[in-house]
Amino acid sequence: MKKKIGILTSGGDCAGLNAVMRAVVHRSALLGWEVLGIEHGTAGLLEAPPRVKALKPEDFDGFMLRRGGTVLGTTNSRNPFKYPMPDGSVKDRSAELIAACKALGMDALIGIGGDGSFDILSRLAKQGDLNFVGIPKTIDNDLAMTDRSVGFDTAVAVATEALDRLQPTAASHDRVMILEVMGRDAGHIALAAGIAGGVDVILIPEIPYTIEAVARKIARVKDSGRNFALMIVSEAVKSPNGEKLEVVYHGGETRYGGIGDYLGPRIARETGFETRVTVLGHVQRGGSPTWNDRLLAQAFGVKAVDLIQEGRFGCMVAWQNRKVTAVPIEDAIRECRVVRPEGTMVHTARSLGISFGDEAE
Ligand code: F6P
Repeated sequence: MKKKIGILTSGGDCAGLNAVMRAVVHRSALLGWEVLGIEHGTAGLLEAPPRVKALKPEDFDGFMLRRGGTVLGTTNSRNPFKYPMPDGSVKDRSAELIAACKALGMDALIGIGGDGSFDILSRLAKQGDLNFVGIPKTIDNDLAMTDRSVGFDTAVAVATEALDRLQPTAASHDRVMILEVMGRDAGHIALAAGIAGGVDVILIPEIPYTIEAVARKIARVKDSGRNFALMIVSEAVKSPNGEKLEVVYHGGETRYGGIGDYLGPRIARETGFETRVTVLGHVQRGGSPTWNDRLLAQAFGVKAVDLIQEGRFGCMVAWQNRKVTAVPIEDAIRECRVVRPEGTMVHTARSLGISFGDEAE
């Protein structure tokens, strides 16, 4: 039976979102189904008329596979349960949104998102009896139940390349270079890029540190005859006395930011090394996806359509044990999957002599 599938991207963008859509569109076309793209996440459904467009296979050629961002647009600040109204109030617009999905005649809705988006979308699905399937994307890689989310691999590749570029300039100037990367409450990007980029120190929110221990590591680097050091720090790392470092944006929204600049002068003072800080920011989210993200994106897109064909809803596609599978969405958002201090990658890093700033004297 011919079906109409709605698809939206929600939350922060990342590389690989268009590749996911491309897979959904092509797989659906083979089944003779229609795909309706919803613009700007759930917010597009709250406009009159709803901001939707038919997604056709001819519009999703190979170029889309390589293209960064999301051609549908996205939002991470317009929760339909607490929708910000022009007069400054907030309103529950969930019923309007569900009505819009029904009016559009959608048989199923695919949401490409992270934990925050899935929390909202699964609540909407329950409330409105919508057939929902989630596809995990987040550079933070912090969704439970899936080894990988779309966008993480590209973010790590960008951060690793940044370290590759910082290393020669650090060596030329006898400096400590600190690279601050994203990751919200999980240190996966810093850990992976730090190992891949051969840093001396990795600081992640999961492992408490002291400036003194970091300085001792850098002193050991100096004593070994090396004239520079590389450090990577995850944005959610707090100051040693537990202060959260944040940036307040116009409208009062806060995001992590500032730990690199906090650490820079302190490390310089403790080590005597000239220190410079690079904040990578949204560069980690843009650009063309890596081959790994393209593969994952397309395996996920195809699986989501397969699930709809099988009538399996309320689940998220996931990558586990070298296979694409499906898990209950509640299990995926129950907790943030942070770095395990006793896990393989932390052990690998420590065994390579990388410091987490927590070693005793
Ligand atoms: O969750 C993805 C992410 O890129 C985080 O790593 C980062 O803290 C946050 O989003 C930045 O959000 P925004 O795009 O609103 O600045």
